[in-house]
Amino acid sequence: MAFEPVLTRNIHRPDSGTIEGYLAAGGYQGLRRALKEFSPGQLVEEVKNSGLRGRGGAGFPTGMKWGFLPKTRDKPRYLCVNADESEPGTFKDRLLIEKDPHLVLEGIILSAYAIESSLAFFYIRGEFHEGYRIFQKAVQEARAKGFLGTNILGSGFSLDIIIYRGAGAYICGEETALLESLEGKRGYPRIKPPFPAIVGLYGCPTIINNVETLANVTLIAERGAAWYASIGRPPKNTGPKLFCLSGHVKRPGVFEAPLGVPFLELLNEHAGGMQHSDRPLKAAVPGGSSMKILPASKCDVLMDFDALAAAGTSLGSAGGIVMDTSTCMVTALLNVARFYAHESCGQCTPCREGTGWFVKILSRLERGDGRPEDVGLLTGIASNIEGNTVCPFGEAIAWPVESYVRVFREEFEEHAKRKACPMKTTAVR
Ligand SMILES: Cc1cc2nc3c(=O)[nH]c(=O)nc-3n(C[C@H](O)[C@H](O)[C@H](O)COP(=O)(O)O)c2cc1C
Ligand code: SF4
Repeated sequence: MAFEPVLTRNIHRPDSGTIEGYLAAGGYQGLRRALKEFSPGQLVEEVKNSGLRGRGGAGFPTGMKWGFLPKTRDKPRYLCVNADESEPGTFKDRLLIEKDPHLVLEGIILSAYAIESSLAFFYIRGEFHEGYRIFQKAVQEARAKGFLGTNILGSGFSLDIIIYRGAGAYICGEETALLESLEGKRGYPRIKPPFPAIVGLYGCPTIINNVETLANVTLIAERGAAWYASIGRPPKNTGPKLFCLSGHVKRPGVFEAPLGVPFLELLNEHAGGMQHSDRPLKAAVPGGSSMKILPASKCDVLMDFDALAAAGTSLGSAGGIVMDTSTCMVTALLNVARFYAHESCGQCTPCREGTGWFVKILSRLERGDGRPEDVGLLTGIASNIEGNTVCPFGEAIAWPVESYVRVFREEFEEHAKRKACPMKTTAVR
């Protein structure tokens, strides 16, 4: 059966960002249907049955997460939308926010209904000026049409949304740092447990979901769990997915395909193949800069949570970065390490100090001042970070370091031995 793009179905319409355009394309039908046909609990079940897993990076089942909310109702419940998208190589949420904001907004309203929350927070990356403007307009339009506010479509359900702009910190995409930031504090991740579903924003039960996850909820409400669960690789990898591809490809961009699409199909068909015909694939990071790298020989892999885990990496935020044979792996890793050293919140020592050491060691290897012990030093520091930090940011830098060095060890050792780059060319910068 041919795949029908649904997340990106409106993005090429000139009026896709307006409520008129969205309504003309059948928008808000899912919300009308769900408010009539489903109780909140039934909508949670529908999302569980769809198999939807979070699109923010960890792939946690969405309905199951919603089910963790306490049954007691002595405190308000909040929905926080994670629109902080900052993982290098990832630019899919931005597309949805800018090109089809009502698809996202409808998913937010539906999800707030399901978890019985009457206040949602939209935490948007500070640099997304255009996205902020577009989303703010969408919220105003939805309010004017009665899709937001008091007694939505006469259902008795009420919801308001607060849009909050981040200040440009990658770590505020981590869900508990996001909550701290929303509370007006420095974005320091919290120790878990307790998980936000129990103790979240202002100490109240809170669900945090990614933008693309919530856009998928709109589709589930519109077409049903059975339809959704038939896409991809059921039962554990269902639904449509946005994949980003950048680096040495002919046509970098965001592509929609079912979960489980072959990586090589994304590369060769969607992204037009390698940028230069005389420079074949050397390696790829399928899931964004914080995930483990795969050598070309292992890139014949399916793009879903479980297939990539079996291949020794992760789907992450599906920010695929493609590198050809001109790429120096020391320079590529230095580029990654610089980002993480800059973005470490500094709360825990292994991450704060380790990221700085990665930059120092990789810089000296790159400029020809490397020492024979440097390669072992890199992996030693990575293993000291892994598992020893407050939040998974530690792994987000330990994994690339460990995997780049493991897969391309010879190249790293050659840098130290020759006191120069064996490639004599530069990497993806
Ligand atoms: C360092 C770090 C950065 C993150 N950045 C983002 C982000 O920008 N957007 C996002 O949705 N999730 C991000 N996450 C994942 C969130 O913590 C959280 O798992 C996600 O928002 C949950 O939504 P989902 O279940 O819908 O995927 C990040 C996690 C870590 C550790
Ligand atoms: S792992 Fe890094 S980013 Fe996360 S809390 Fe510790 S210092 Fe901050």
